[in-house]
Amino acid sequence: MIVLGIETSCDETGLALYHRDKGLLGHKLFSQIKLHAMYGGVVPELASRDHILRLLPLLEQLLAACKLGKSEIDAIAYTQGPGLLGALLTGASFAQSLAWALGVPALGVHHMEGHLLAAMLEQPAPEFPFLALLVSGGHTMLVKVNAHGDYQKLGESLDDAAGEAFDKTARLLDLPYPGGPAIAKLATGGNSAAYKFPRPMLDKPGFDFSFSGLKTAVLTQVQKTADLDAAKADLAASFQAAAVDVLCQKTVRALRHSNLQQLVVAGGVGANMELRQKLKQLGAKHNVAVFYPRLEFCTDNGAMIAYAGAMRLGKKESSPLAIDCKARWDLSQLQAPQPPIIDN
Ligand code: KG4
Ligand code: ZN
Repeated sequence: MIVLGIETSCDETGLALYHRDKGLLGHKLFSQIKLHAMYGGVVPELASRDHILRLLPLLEQLLAACKLGKSEIDAIAYTQGPGLLGALLTGASFAQSLAWALGVPALGVHHMEGHLLAAMLEQPAPEFPFLALLVSGGHTMLVKVNAHGDYQKLGESLDDAAGEAFDKTARLLDLPYPGGPAIAKLATGGNSAAYKFPRPMLDKPGFDFSFSGLKTAVLTQVQKTADLDAAKADLAASFQAAAVDVLCQKTVRALRHSNLQQLVVAGGVGANMELRQKLKQLGAKHNVAVFYPRLEFCTDNGAMIAYAGAMRLGKKESSPLAIDCKARWDLSQLQAPQPPIIDN
């Protein structure tokens, strides 16, 4: 079975073809970073309009690269939520119309399920159960992944997501959008011990995060700094160290609590080298195998949606012919794919 995956929840148009036996056949991505850069963040209306322009050409490029025709697509998976509603609707309409025209099933996929399972596209792949640290622009969560569709949220951010904290801090430092990579780059030339920023929530039990206080601490420091240009690299490095420290310590706490021996790091902030290195070191220390999707599959992409969709489509799950997207959608509402009920 060949599944076409379509991702349009934010500012990346991602398409991929996944074969249930042969694995990933190919993927294409168009990033709208340049389109939104001058506004310092994603402009939802521009994002939707651009997805519409990219979807069909990307599909044609993908099929050509995989030497396949449209008629060889057996099912279509698309991101149904959470995300920007207009952007989600473009992918859903495209997927549902194409599926209807081809006479194949379509399935709406949870974006975060895609991120959680993205490491399954790599070799070696993790095995269930594992702990996932999901760190994206909109979400920060620690999730116990028991099986496909069986996700137990252990903790999450009570305010800003980790990526959001990187993006907002980058704006304070006059860095371009997206802020995460810009902070990471600047931090390489800075002293991470120059400023002592808070490590929010470490003194509280449990696995929840909070990043808005950290961002405010950077703002207060920025307002006190006379020569911001000279201090920027140190501010970026000190902020990154605080954010990474909190993520690592809560992750170790969750690993100990859940007694799991495998950790998957997913979502855009999972591309952060400092975080990757620190978690690898901690994994070695605590005898935990750490898995990452390749860098391009940490951020949004069609491959993770094709994979997550294929798991459910294989169990005959599908969505009705309707354009029904969810801007907000709690991961804990998901259910494991069920074997189909056969009505006699
Ligand atoms: O998963 P993703 O592509 O989109 C969402 O589902 O939100 O994550 C995007 C987030 C942005 O906030 C971006 O600044 C952050 O991931 N990000 C990074 C890095 N690369 C992307 N944050 C820190 N370091 C990076 N290298
Ligand atoms: Zn994402």
